[in-house]
Amino acid sequence: MKEALEQIRQKAREVLSGVRDSRELEDARVRYLGKKGELTAILKQMGALSPEERPVIGQLANEIRAEIEGEINAAGEELKARMLEAKLESERIDVTLPGTPNPTGKEHPLYKVLDEMEDIFLGMGFEIVEGPEVETDYYNFEALNIPRNHPARDTQDTFYINDNILLRTQTSPVQVRTMEKKKPPIRIIAPGRVYRSDAVDATHSPLFHQMEGLVVDKGITMADLKGTLEIFVKRLYGEDSVVRFRPHHFPFTEPSAEMDVQCFNCHGAGCSVCKGEGWIEILGCGMVHPKVLQNCDIDPEVYSGFAFGMGIERVVMRRYAITDLRLMFENDLRFLNQF
Ligand code: DAH
Repeated sequence: MKEALEQIRQKAREVLSGVRDSRELEDARVRYLGKKGELTAILKQMGALSPEERPVIGQLANEIRAEIEGEINAAGEELKARMLEAKLESERIDVTLPGTPNPTGKEHPLYKVLDEMEDIFLGMGFEIVEGPEVETDYYNFEALNIPRNHPARDTQDTFYINDNILLRTQTSPVQVRTMEKKKPPIRIIAPGRVYRSDAVDATHSPLFHQMEGLVVDKGITMADLKGTLEIFVKRLYGEDSVVRFRPHHFPFTEPSAEMDVQCFNCHGAGCSVCKGEGWIEILGCGMVHPKVLQNCDIDPEVYSGFAFGMGIERVVMRRYAITDLRLMFENDLRFLNQF
């Protein structure tokens, strides 16, 4: 019996040192230590031994069992390590290879600047409102004191859906829509798309963007208009910006003005950027015409207000020294990726 045990010990050592995978390891465990295993088979015969032999053989058997268990554990550990090694090897990546590009979108330069403009007005207590791009003749012209056959309509020809419905030529109708809904104090800006039937060239597009502004309250004067717009320009173009107001005419404001910013390039001397003028026109503005207030059921004897409107593309082109308006709408990534 002792020899049989020694044989098992010997054989088990050989088998376990040559185990190649977890399945072979499990087979070996069952074969030597399992309920029907070789060691168990021998121990079952212990009853036939003499009382003197029994403890000796028992001790040997236990020793061998412990030894085999130890070897199985060690073989298992080694297998695990080898498998991990193989897995790491197979999953190895070459970190020096170029990665797969994952392009992300970017904000359009127009909306970047618009965001900035909105922030400036939000900081001064303005609210952002929107109006429809498909507008009625009444809001786009009539309510703004531009009746049918008024010459101001000539410069704002647009796309008509029928006699009364058109694509808005300006954001000014949002003034009227706002005053109809809300009573003073009103302090809003209204950015959005506008349309005119202009042929496309470096400075014209049938679609462009404007930002309207409107303030109505008791005691609003031209001084409020000038102060507000001057702060806006300084925030947008820098504290050293200089502005000037020129008298102008708009049917929906009285008095009306255009605001120019001194050319950032030549500081008023005249250069190619400002076409020799020394100044660059950036917006139209004025005190809201009493007729427009009346059209919205606001009493011009009690309330007054100022309004302004500017082309956003123009501001963006100035900001980034873009010389062709068409670039804004062509969606050429070589252009857009520069911002
Ligand atoms: N809507 C005018 C335009 O498109 C711009 C404008 C001028 C807006 C004076 C105003 C304003 O609100 O007061 O030419």
